[in-house]
Amino acid sequence: MGRVIAIANQKGGVGKTTTAINLAVALADTGRRVLLVDLDPQGNATSGISTPEDFAAARREGKTIYQALVGGLAIAEILRQVRPMLSLAPAGDDLVGAEIELVTMEGRERRLRALLEPIRVEYNYVLIDTPPSLGILTLNALVAADSVLVPMQCEYYALEGLNSLLGTINKVKAALRPGLELEGLVLTMFDSRNRLSHEISDEVRRHFPEKVFRSVIPRSVRMSESPSHGLSVLEYGPKSPGAEGYRALAAEIVARGEAGDGRIN
Ligand SMILES: Nc1ncnc2c1ncn2[C@@H]1O[C@H](COP(=O)(O)OP(=O)(O)OP(=O)(O)O)[C@@H](O)[C@H]1O
Ligand SMILES: [Mg+2]
Repeated sequence: MGRVIAIANQKGGVGKTTTAINLAVALADTGRRVLLVDLDPQGNATSGISTPEDFAAARREGKTIYQALVGGLAIAEILRQVRPMLSLAPAGDDLVGAEIELVTMEGRERRLRALLEPIRVEYNYVLIDTPPSLGILTLNALVAADSVLVPMQCEYYALEGLNSLLGTINKVKAALRPGLELEGLVLTMFDSRNRLSHEISDEVRRHFPEKVFRSVIPRSVRMSESPSHGLSVLEYGPKSPGAEGYRALAAEIVARGEAGDGRIN
């Protein structure tokens, strides 16, 4: 049964989508079957891993996660194979309306979970990219997930808002998804020459001992350039420190899962 990991942080621009794309490719590169679900109306995970032709085709055909979540299409109908071991459930502009439309729908928080139920056996990992909010789309991701991976940018105020995210996770655990775990916190955009990066890293590790991944994702130009080419950094700059960072993170997640020692909860 595939492990479903929601990548969430209601702070914007902290590296959620970058982590979703590059972790998905890194896990697929280790021979695991991976599904990447784009649950953000911005659609950055979709455009960042697709060729422009494929991206245009998904939009033209209307085969988007919205059509599955709200429109009643089977999720298998919208999936696109974007790499040999990696499938994508793409987001389109139509997802913008979902936050409002879902409110009045039956089982509104559980719709993604229900969609994934029949297909998760086909994957080792299902990664869900979420928008920078704690709205109903993110709630659907948390209810569908086994665990939450939280990217944190190594900048001032990194810890701001973390308590509301952890509070939301606890509420979801209590009311909707008792088994939900914290996969861990991952430090992103780390700049080793910047004293602040080290200070933030130390502070996060002090606040959350045992919950922070050893692997740290460095800030790198290759990383910020790669999405505009529809490539992961593992493809665009395979030897870059950013690629190394995501390969190490994938190895850590795989090792932990296969050791069966549970999550750092
Ligand atoms: N390690 C990194 N090095 C350099 N640039 C990075 C790195 N990680 C992310 N970025 C860049 O920072 C910006 C924000 O990253 P990203 O889109 O992944 O964040 P996000 O949390 O998904 O944002 P949003 O909240 O808007 O969905 C992007 O332009 C991305 O290319
Ligand atoms: Mg994003």
